[in-house]
Amino acid sequence: MSLVIAPSILAADFASLGAEVEAVVAAGAEWIHIDVMDGHFVPNITIGPAIVKALRPRTKAFFDVHLMIAPCDLFLADFAQAGADLISVHVEAGPHLHRSLQAIRGLGKQAGVVLNPATPVSSVEHVLDLVDLVLVMSVNPGFGGQAFIPSAVEKVARLKDMIGARPIRIEVDGGINPKTGAEVVAAGADTLVAGSAVFAGGPEKYAANISAIRNAARDGAFPRKVGPLFG
Ligand code: DX5
Ligand code: ZN
Repeated sequence: MSLVIAPSILAADFASLGAEVEAVVAAGAEWIHIDVMDGHFVPNITIGPAIVKALRPRTKAFFDVHLMIAPCDLFLADFAQAGADLISVHVEAGPHLHRSLQAIRGLGKQAGVVLNPATPVSSVEHVLDLVDLVLVMSVNPGFGGQAFIPSAVEKVARLKDMIGARPIRIEVDGGINPKTGAEVVAAGADTLVAGSAVFAGGPEKYAANISAIRNAARDGAFPRKVGPLFG
């Protein structure tokens, strides 16, 4: 799987969201990660379907919609119609994970399932045939700018083993910077969400911030010590 950097617009300037999305795509982002919070499943409130719909005409970039809402089923169609390309739901978003994933696929969208830091890898074993992506949270969901939880690295490696040859992306979200991004990519991740590390310094820094994460991840995945070809 090719490496994808997915800037989280949670760290963008909300008063200029359309311009921020355009700027970060121009800076090299393939995906836009959209964090949806309900003040109930997580202790924060952010973006609803109306915002996703307003952003959709501003870019062709892939919209990766991370739902931190419970119950989630009532809103799946709204986010699909608003322009999501992939919709992710937490294992705990309930009441029936398998049904929610079927519903997302039924709406013609890619489906993702999300593991909180305390949620075991085994909890997604029986839904792997229903998903295009598994998202490993490396912070507790609700806020940007938190410190990376190191146990996410081993979790990614276990998940990679469990997924085997299936065409499923492994995404990591929370505290990703060049160093932690390289660690999780070396363990098997292929999709990196980054909020603070991408949006730091304003639009003139976005391209350098994205390149720093991408280059570190590449170096981590293909260490130079393997031979003269890489020297
Ligand atoms: C947290 C969100 C993340 C968050 C990441 O609940 O799911 O996407 O924006 O922000 P950083 O990269 O700053 O940890
Ligand atoms: Zn997220």
